[in-house]
Amino acid sequence: MPKYANITGWGKCMPPAVMTNDDMATIMDTSDEWITSRSGISERRVSHVPASDLASVAGLRALAAAGLVAEDVDLLIVATCTPDTVIPSTAAHVQKKMGAANAAVFDLNAGCSGFIYSLSVATSMIRAAGYKKALVIGCERITWFLNWSLRDSAVLFGDGAGAVVLEPSEKESGLLASHLGCEGDALDALIVSNFGTAGDRFVENYGNFDVNFDGREIFKRAVRGMAREIRKVLSDLEFSNEDIDLIIPHQANARIIESLAHHLSVPMSQVVLNIQNYGNTSAATIPVALVEALDEGRIKSGDRLLLAAFGAGLTRGAGLIRWGERTTPLAQSDAELPPCDQTALEILSDAIKHTQ
Ligand SMILES: CC(C)(COP(=O)(O)OP(=O)(O)OC[C@H]1O[C@@H](n2cnc3c(N)ncnc32)[C@H](O)[C@@H]1OP(=O)(O)O)[C@@H](O)C(=O)NCCC(=O)NCCS
Repeated sequence: MPKYANITGWGKCMPPAVMTNDDMATIMDTSDEWITSRSGISERRVSHVPASDLASVAGLRALAAAGLVAEDVDLLIVATCTPDTVIPSTAAHVQKKMGAANAAVFDLNAGCSGFIYSLSVATSMIRAAGYKKALVIGCERITWFLNWSLRDSAVLFGDGAGAVVLEPSEKESGLLASHLGCEGDALDALIVSNFGTAGDRFVENYGNFDVNFDGREIFKRAVRGMAREIRKVLSDLEFSNEDIDLIIPHQANARIIESLAHHLSVPMSQVVLNIQNYGNTSAATIPVALVEALDEGRIKSGDRLLLAAFGAGLTRGAGLIRWGERTTPLAQSDAELPPCDQTALEILSDAIKHTQ
């Protein structure tokens, strides 16, 4: 069995419609000043298509970067908490749209930690179960579900997708160590309780997707939980903070990321921060940030990248990636989303009407 699962391809797909903080202030009692100063977010993307469309385009771009085609994929994991349908999985929709007919497919829902969880699972399946071409995608269409009368949560999220391809390798590369966890005792801090089999199906708001949210509690637990998992990862590898070249954290709040960097004594120049452009895209944040770091030339061959995330559950995870040799794509894909001729507020107009 191979020792490592190297990352050989990467791609992202951000929907084109932009919703600024000023747009947000036209539909609820908020302001650019509040959102920017409390969260670091300036704007976010609003998707005009289901999550699986974003995932498929990101996936095809990642495959092109690895010099592969969809039929090569034997394992497809989609990290999402905003599935196209509950049955079947979003991964099945993605398989069909991409033409990845030879892949075993499943969704993994670990909230915003979904990408780290999925990367860990795919790495293990390559190292222990003989899979050879794994595609791991984080994708979300959260704006579709948001309740636009709940200003504390509605301003924080956005849509998008990011993907990586993993292949077996004997050279030290890919995810070298990871630690995953969950604080189930605090699951009520971030819960959508009126959607699913635990809800009363016949009450009036059943099927709405109202995010109940205790931002302060999550904030505290996020910094503590990520730091705990990071310490375990570094200790497993006998690394110290100085061995980290770049941190690619989950993007939920710029202040959480700054606290984490401070805690690790790593300067913000070594941290990828793109929350200002996209808000929190949940399971998509880390792969999107990874792709952007590569595009900007911030990752060199052999670099050590630290990932850390937390999310609904309250899940948490951290992982350390040793980047392989190649930092440029082998080819570009011509995959594109269908054109969008609406503004973000136009896409959301029915949802805003029904939730206000
Ligand atoms: C949500 C979050 C940005 C709030 O920041 P905060 O500094 O803790 O703000 P608070 O919750 O203390 O709210 C402060 C005030 O702003 C108000 N407020 C909340 N949302 C607002 C908005 N969108 N616009 C304007 N005011 C708002 C509150 O009502 C509160 O008013 P009050 O003091 O009169 O009661 C922050 O707690 C956070 O990022 N938490 C974690 C994020 C997260 O969990 N993401 C999802 C999981 S990955």
